[in-house]
Amino acid sequence: MIETSLEATAEARRPSELMNDAVIQLENIHKTYHLGDIDVHALRGVSVNVGRGEYVAIMGPSGSGKSTMMNIIGCLDHPTRGNYLLDGLDVSQASKADLADIRNKKVGFVFQSFNLVSRTSALENVELPMIYAGVRAKERARRAAEALEIVGLKDRMRNLPNQLSGGQQQRVAIARALVNNPAIILADEPTGALDTRTSVELMEVFQTLNAERNMTIILVTHEHDISEYSKRVIVFRDGRIVKDQPMTGRRSAAETLRELPTEEELDAAAAEEMTE
Ligand SMILES: Nc1ncnc2c1ncn2[C@@H]1O[C@H](COP(=O)(O)OP(=O)(O)OP(=O)(O)O)[C@@H](O)[C@H]1O
Ligand SMILES: [Mg+2]
Repeated sequence: MIETSLEATAEARRPSELMNDAVIQLENIHKTYHLGDIDVHALRGVSVNVGRGEYVAIMGPSGSGKSTMMNIIGCLDHPTRGNYLLDGLDVSQASKADLADIRNKKVGFVFQSFNLVSRTSALENVELPMIYAGVRAKERARRAAEALEIVGLKDRMRNLPNQLSGGQQQRVAIARALVNNPAIILADEPTGALDTRTSVELMEVFQTLNAERNMTIILVTHEHDISEYSKRVIVFRDGRIVKDQPMTGRRSAAETLRELPTEEELDAAAAEEMTE
């Protein structure tokens, strides 16, 4: 009986409140942009905790403040008001130089547009954050190769970005995000430029990193399907959180991939249609 009542209490609480080990603690965060005479209130009092090993999908209409929050979480921008602890560090008051340092050590970014350096190989792209962190050349190459292996690109290390598919380029971006062993990975619409199968393959990479390495992942998406691979969904509207729920009926990307037709099957089906 005691067990049941404990379970009931746990159910009633939000996932974040169950974790003492919060990686992100945002308290009443406001962000106002000043554009000439106009003030844009992008965030209007956001409070949220994210624990280690969580996998959160952020959703909400265009302009609701998702990227603004990601930029603050990722130390790319200061809140106008409110407190922010990242991995126990108070970053709301940090100087620009400190922010850059914290960002490089604690956060891995993945963007919709990949943001790879075009004239350098996959391996060198992944090495970049370690150059800023002052890691020695030999160690850099070793760790970059290891990160590329994790995302399944061991045999493409020497390719330039334009010699890789969109999905492979995004994997390089994930490897680069991983390489300093950050506390969190932030991904802002990482599947925005990818087709269905490639998107699910990416979700498989994220689910594996989350399950096997306990990586904390926060991902913005407009696609309902993509949010279903997360463990928790937060919905924004007009600069506020209007919904924060655990994902029930979470999908496994590996399973979805087994059910999706492969590229060859799609080609074969198209060819058959042509001859009919
Ligand atoms: N640098 C900026 N200067 C001024 N206003 C900005 C700036 N960045 C964002 N905004 C405004 O802040 C609000 C929130 O923008 P934000 O980019 O966070 O939305 P979003 O939820 O990420 O939208 P989308 O889904 O389209 O990416 C919008 O009204 C936007 O116009
Ligand atoms: Mg955005």
